[in-house]
Amino acid sequence: MRRRSFIKGMAAAGASALVPSGVTTALTSCSGKDKEWPDFNEVIDRSGTWSIKYSRATDGEIPMWIADMDFRTDPYVSEALRKRLDRDVMGYTFTPPEFYEAVAEWEKSLHGYNVDPEWVGYAPGVITSINQAYLTFTEPGDKIIIQPPVYDHFRLYIERLGRVAVDNPLILDERGHYRMDLEGLENLIDDRTKVLVLCNPQNPIGILWDRETLASLAEICERHGVVVISDEIHGDLALYGKTHTPFCSVSEAAARVGMIFAGPTKAFNLAGLSGTAFCVIPDKEKRERYLGALRNAKLDEPSVMTIEAVLAAYRKDKTWLGYVKKYIEGNIFRVERFVSTNFLGIKSIRPQASFLIWLDCREVGLPQKELMEKFRKEAKVIPSDGLSYGPGGEGFVRLNLGCPVSVLDEALERIRKAFGR
Ligand SMILES: Cc1ncc(COP(=O)(O)O)c(C=O)c1O
Repeated sequence: MRRRSFIKGMAAAGASALVPSGVTTALTSCSGKDKEWPDFNEVIDRSGTWSIKYSRATDGEIPMWIADMDFRTDPYVSEALRKRLDRDVMGYTFTPPEFYEAVAEWEKSLHGYNVDPEWVGYAPGVITSINQAYLTFTEPGDKIIIQPPVYDHFRLYIERLGRVAVDNPLILDERGHYRMDLEGLENLIDDRTKVLVLCNPQNPIGILWDRETLASLAEICERHGVVVISDEIHGDLALYGKTHTPFCSVSEAAARVGMIFAGPTKAFNLAGLSGTAFCVIPDKEKRERYLGALRNAKLDEPSVMTIEAVLAAYRKDKTWLGYVKKYIEGNIFRVERFVSTNFLGIKSIRPQASFLIWLDCREVGLPQKELMEKFRKEAKVIPSDGLSYGPGGEGFVRLNLGCPVSVLDEALERIRKAFGR
């Protein structure tokens, strides 16, 4: 009911004006629904909300680094949280059967993966839960493989927890395409290698890994007794009509060696709720061992808001998700047009998923530190430093496009002025 009035409100507010100018081509493919778009163009004041992203923007810089979006979440989610608050009671909460069923239904309807609700567990945030998996399946000094350039918190916590991060870097070809080095992987594994962390889709590049690659990875890891932790937090944001492939769905071997961690955190912009996540572990022995470890660390209890948010996000109606993906595609298109019409030595690599874009700035010809300074001090834009994602990140930055078009345009104009000199 509320959704109807929300959409009507948008239409009354002259919603066609909300369609970003210059991205008509991208928008007309949105099944003619553009006049019902939520107002992603609204610039929302995040001051006073203890936003990590904005805490770094001290000198009028535009923060485009940490991966949350500057949009309101799906109004269904906000409504569910408000209703829950109206009850005023904030007691301890268990994970109800509806949670497991909603996750299974979501995996099936969005990703075509038949998940038995039995395989699903509540997870207290993706990184917290992955860290707990390191503690469960490895000993101090054991090796954990990562495939850089990749999300920096993998390496960070592997090292903080006294394990050894081993790099199997992705291979970048001349056409700007990345692939996994499966041969390199086979040669890297030794008897201290216990886990591989897969970023599926890959952050910072936005790669949707294909079924064949994932099946080969599973086969290699099973042969060597390596557990695969698949971080699928960006999977719901597969773009351009493409689909995300859950790791454990690709083969029987993948179901035996794999553990999926995901949640509505990125797609529904819920990062600050901290804990809207789940795991899918088809293998019974692994699942029991892992969920037992979560229980022993008292990490198995969701907050009152978590369950409400996940159930509201994972309802049948996926309209909001469709809108936000279209808006992101429009922003990617703007960046692509910007880099192709301004010759600044910057190239973009089109993400197949999520709101982050990987910019190849190697032709700018600056050492990484100076490149970052140019973005920050001259352009007054804060991207993520490519080098923080490990080998292969030098000469690159990652830009967060989860922002209104007007903010993006201002950032691009500043980059043009700084880099065009
Ligand atoms: C690949 C990936 N995994 C996990 C996270 C963080 O997840 P959580 O906030 O649930 O720990 C991020 C956030 O940027 C991410 O990009």
